[in-house]
Amino acid sequence: MSQTKRAAILGTGKAVPDTVLTNKDLEQRIDTSDAWIVERTGIKERRVAGPDVMLADLAAEAAMAALVNAEVNVAEIDMLILATASGDVQSPSTACLVQEKIGAHNAFAFDISAACSGFLYGLQVADSLMATIGYRKVLVIGGEIPTTYINWQDRDTCVLFGDGAGAVVLGQAEDGRGLLRTSLKSDGRCHHLLNVPGHNRSNLPTEEDLQEHRYALRMDGREVFRHAVVSMTNVMNQVLCEEDYDVDDLDMFIPHQANMRIIEAVGKRLGISREKVYVNVDRFGNTSAASIPIALDEACRSGLVGPGALVGLAAFGAGFTWGAGLLRL
Ligand code: ACO
Repeated sequence: MSQTKRAAILGTGKAVPDTVLTNKDLEQRIDTSDAWIVERTGIKERRVAGPDVMLADLAAEAAMAALVNAEVNVAEIDMLILATASGDVQSPSTACLVQEKIGAHNAFAFDISAACSGFLYGLQVADSLMATIGYRKVLVIGGEIPTTYINWQDRDTCVLFGDGAGAVVLGQAEDGRGLLRTSLKSDGRCHHLLNVPGHNRSNLPTEEDLQEHRYALRMDGREVFRHAVVSMTNVMNQVLCEEDYDVDDLDMFIPHQANMRIIEAVGKRLGISREKVYVNVDRFGNTSAASIPIALDEACRSGLVGPGALVGLAAFGAGFTWGAGLLRL
């Protein structure tokens, strides 16, 4: 009997800028310490894109790595989705810039904006369009340069973020592999707790704003922490329950790499053993929509998970947005 067609991971890739910014480097700029940052966040260093690096560059590099890993020719890609909250230009979508860079000329391309949950939103959209319309090979990329809108004098936020991109190539599978289930949520009532004001039609920039680049990320850290832990735990449990799995069935749990205390608190509430929780926040900081695909790429390439593994994904970000996914590799 044939199984349901599902969007399965054919290959993964990642790209991060070469420049490493350590906690020691930050000690030189602001009133902070390596010990404070490690204790409160688990972050030791992060990657920062130089002024000549565009998001499309990182996203294209991650996409090409995923295509090579999947042994899929770029001409086969039908659809290219880039999840980002830090695109290169207002319009067109950065996905179109990536399309041009990698030569995915048979695809249609668009961005998804769901902050740190964007990659999960991208997976769900890809899976649905593959099932209903029949697209066969799809690139889903999560990419961010959050350091674009970081105020480097704000110690509450500047220690947390890093730049990078991660990508997957999806193809249709009928052998039980693939995205088993996702659940996506948002609560716009919390938009004020984490946002990047930027400039828009209702908040036009002054000349001074433009000159001084005054569009920094704003965050209520404690509220974000509280909501993130509860929301990611609940939605992961929901997805496991809906597929009739227990947390012990997971071979690996890949949460959004926001910070170590959030990851540990979610892991504890889920009741999953520490060695099954993937962590790279110490090396990359919070790369927003890029964090799950970067972690997935590392987990796959290092052999920590392989074909047949059951992987849980959970994310939380500005909006608030959150969600979880269950993946059979
Ligand atoms: N270095 C040294 N001291 C600092 C720093 C810093 N980088 N940042 C804040 N402090 C100080 C504060 O000023 C405060 O000093 P005070 O007591 O004299 O006023 C003290 O440390 C404690 O500050 P709190 O904000 O209470 O520290 P808390 O323990 O809540 O940790 C943190 C702050 C790490 C931001 C925490 O709230 C958190 O992890 N929140 C989640 C935020 C997050 O991960 N956001 C990412 C985006 S959303 C997402 O991806 C899910």
